[in-house]
Order: sequence, then C-alpha cells, then structure tokens
Amino acid sequence: MSDDFKADRLRNEKSDPVEAASPRFVFVPVILISMFIGFGATYLAFTTKTTGVETGDGRGTTPARTAPLSSGAYAKGKQVFTTVCQACHQASGLGIPGAFPPLAGSEWVLGPPRRLAAIILHGAAGEIVVKGQTFRGAMPAQKGTLTDEQIADVATYVRGSWGNSADAVETSLVTEVREKTKTRATPWNGGEELGKTSFE
Ligand code: HEC
Repeated sequence: MSDDFKADRLRNEKSDPVEAASPRFVFVPVILISMFIGFGATYLAFTTKTTGVETGDGRGTTPARTAPLSSGAYAKGKQVFTTVCQACHQASGLGIPGAFPPLAGSEWVLGPPRRLAAIILHGAAGEIVVKGQTFRGAMPAQKGTLTDEQIADVATYVRGSWGNSADAVETSLVTEVREKTKTRATPWNGGEELGKTSFE
C-alpha cells in the first residue's frame, strides 16, 4: 500500500460512526413521550364522560325500566291491606254481610279520596250504608299505626281492585287530611257524620 494511497484515505475518509454520540437528537425521546402523553390525555378528556371513580368503562348505564309510580304504590298497598284490613273486609273485598261492609263497588271507596283517607285515618263507628246495605260496626282508626304513605298506598289498592277503577291517592292528600282533622280523637260517627263533613 503506497503512502500516497494511505494519505489519501486519511484525508477523505470519515471517522467511524459512533452510536448516541450526537447531542442534536437528545430531545427526540422527550418530544415523542410528550406527544404520546398529550394524545392520551386529550383522548380521555374528550371521550370520558365522568371523572368520578366508578367501576366499568365509563359508558352510560341503561337505566332499569321503572314501573309507573302508581303500580309500586298499588303493590305496597296490597301488603298493607293484607296485614291490616283483610281480616275484616276479606281478600275478596266483599266484607262479611251483616258484619263488615264491602269495599268492592263501595261508594265510600270510589267517592272523594279525601273522605276515604279520613275513614282510614280515624276509623268509623255508627250506622253506615254501603251499596244499599246498612252496617253498624266499628272500624279502628289507623292514624297511629299507618304512615300517610301507607294510607295512600292502601287507598290506591282498594280503589283499583275487585273491579274498582278509581284514581290512585297521593300521599300529600293524606297528609292534608291528617293535618285538617288532627284534633279528632274519636272515629267518624257512621255515614251521617261522614256525609255532612267537608274534607276539602
Ligand atoms: C276490625 C275490622 C276492620 C278493619 C281492620 C278495617 N275495617 Fe274498614 N270497616 C270496618 C267496619 C265495621 C266498617 C263499618 C263502620 C261503621 O259501621 O260505621 C268499616 C268501614 C270501612 C269503609 C267505609 C265503608 C265501606 O265499606 O266502604 C272503608 C272505606 C273501610 N272500612 C276501609 C278499610 C281499610 C282500607 C282498612 C285497612 C287499612 C280497614 N277498613 C280496616 C271494619 C274494619
């Protein structure tokens, strides 16, 4: 190998490449990582609907089909009826002739809901005509044992059973009647007093 050739090589050849030697690209990983994190954060910010900590993947849940309000009240009212009223008025709602008046088809059940609430709250004792039949019995007051909601529920139940189809009774209505008649300490004196009292 001639000296000329060697000198030529030394002059023109570049040095061997060395890995990671250039400070020019030191920011590349930093920039790439920031881009990934930035993309991730932006993506989450736009697609996640809540920031709360919840189980699941953040998609909305399908709400359970809710039954209409009145049907819940009706079912709860049936329970109240079974435990409190059924012994006297019977599961059939027909009562017992000569002793307990019927609720099925009764003008007191299908009539003004406030009056019905008043009967359940304070009970009744005296003469009462139901579907043309006269009863002389005593129904105990429920104001001490049932809440306004339970009274509304059971009223809703009796107004919608055994062929009865009157509107449901709201709890607030029972609350109003309870408030309006709060000084009362005795049961209604049969149909006569119920007939002439205004519950509005
Ligand atoms: C201990 C037996 C007894 C229980 C318990 C009872 N009742 Fe009565 N209920 C009677 C009697 C007796 C009468 C008639 C009262 C009268 O002669 O003045 C009556 C009258 C009624 C009336 C008016 C008349 C009619 O037939 O429509 C309604 C409405 C009524 N009850 C609903 C209820 C409801 C609702 C319950 C349960 C929360 C209930 N009763 C619990 C015995 C009872």
